[in-house]
Amino acid sequence: MIRFESLSAREWPDPMTTRPHILPIYATSSYDFEDIEQGIRIFSGDEKGHTYSRYGNPTVEAVASKIAAMETYGSALSASAVMTNSGMSAIHVLVAGLLKSGDKMLTQPNIYGGTTELFRQMASSWGIEIAYGNLSNADEIDALLKEDKSIKLVYLETPANPTLACIDIEALARVVSSHDRWSAIDNTFATPYLQQPLILGVDFVIHSTTKFLNGHGNSIAGVVIGKDADLFKKTIWNTMKLTGANCSPFEAWLVYQGMKTLPLRMDKHSSNAQLIATTLSNHPNVSRVNYPGLESHRDHLVAKKQMRAFGGMMSFELKGGFDTAIQAMNKMKFCSLTPTLGDVDTLILHPASSSHLKVDPEVRRKAGISDGLIRVSVGIEDPQDILDDLLQAIE
Ligand SMILES: Cc1ncc(COP(=O)(O)O)c(C=O)c1O
Repeated sequence: MIRFESLSAREWPDPMTTRPHILPIYATSSYDFEDIEQGIRIFSGDEKGHTYSRYGNPTVEAVASKIAAMETYGSALSASAVMTNSGMSAIHVLVAGLLKSGDKMLTQPNIYGGTTELFRQMASSWGIEIAYGNLSNADEIDALLKEDKSIKLVYLETPANPTLACIDIEALARVVSSHDRWSAIDNTFATPYLQQPLILGVDFVIHSTTKFLNGHGNSIAGVVIGKDADLFKKTIWNTMKLTGANCSPFEAWLVYQGMKTLPLRMDKHSSNAQLIATTLSNHPNVSRVNYPGLESHRDHLVAKKQMRAFGGMMSFELKGGFDTAIQAMNKMKFCSLTPTLGDVDTLILHPASSSHLKVDPEVRRKAGISDGLIRVSVGIEDPQDILDDLLQAIE
């Protein structure tokens, strides 16, 4: 008989009989081997199995593969995916996994401010050069890729945060692959329910699952998805494993629960945002509304071609600029002043002082991120309550 201290310290038999209906949270850092030979086979890749949760965890893998299935749904494609501990670490793992010192990445200036800042950091400390181009102009990108062989990756975000600028994914992906380079997209604003970039020809998709995929604002996590399984394993999975960017099973599980209502939520986010954008665009105090569902939006036709609906994100400017915007934001009562997006309730943010604070003011200005711009993550509440609050605040 073992001693009391040993009884206390040992694992106890799992009493599970019938299979749980809901995916369990495997809160374990490691896995037992039947014998050491099995450990050797699993570590060397001769046998499938789990070893250590930084390398892989059943809960996290279930969620990642469900997102990959959504991104490829309706096509003959299959994809690999890893979840990471934030959207930022998904972007970091993608770039660090694919590029080495001396390589160049081509991107656009008008994306999430944290991504711009990360790229600038990687450029200065890792020797990865960042080039900027007009990704909406496939001919210009064709010429750039022809001229500069060191560009290995083209990185885009559409719809972009916070201007909702959209890029023709299929046209760009076609040009990039014709030069045998990689394309990667941040699909956070759209989600795979509204837009499926892998099917349109893109090689890699990333998400901040913190946002619409989770939908309830209760976890920070990210995901990288890629079509080429061997390349994915060698680059993305390997970098995730070595940098310890793995997602915790609990955070992944929260995303998993949220994803079950993704289509319902995205349809309601989209119809609410369409109504609010239309109303605001006819308001005398509003000088500009950015929403791809408005026919007046510069990229409306591109968005219409590649998105099922136009999503829950919009931004607008008030006549009067910065001071008026700040006053209006302070008057909001129903909408929350919260620096995230994609939750079921409506969230307001001032990009110039938060999400895009670290972006060079000149770059911000050129990208249309003015000091008076207000971003709205339109929730799934009754749209009249959202509108009443916005209208009383801007009047
Ligand atoms: C479009 C976009 N991508 C990536 C991120 C980074 O995600 P996370 O905060 O989960 O690291 C954000 C954050 O706001 C974002 O808006």
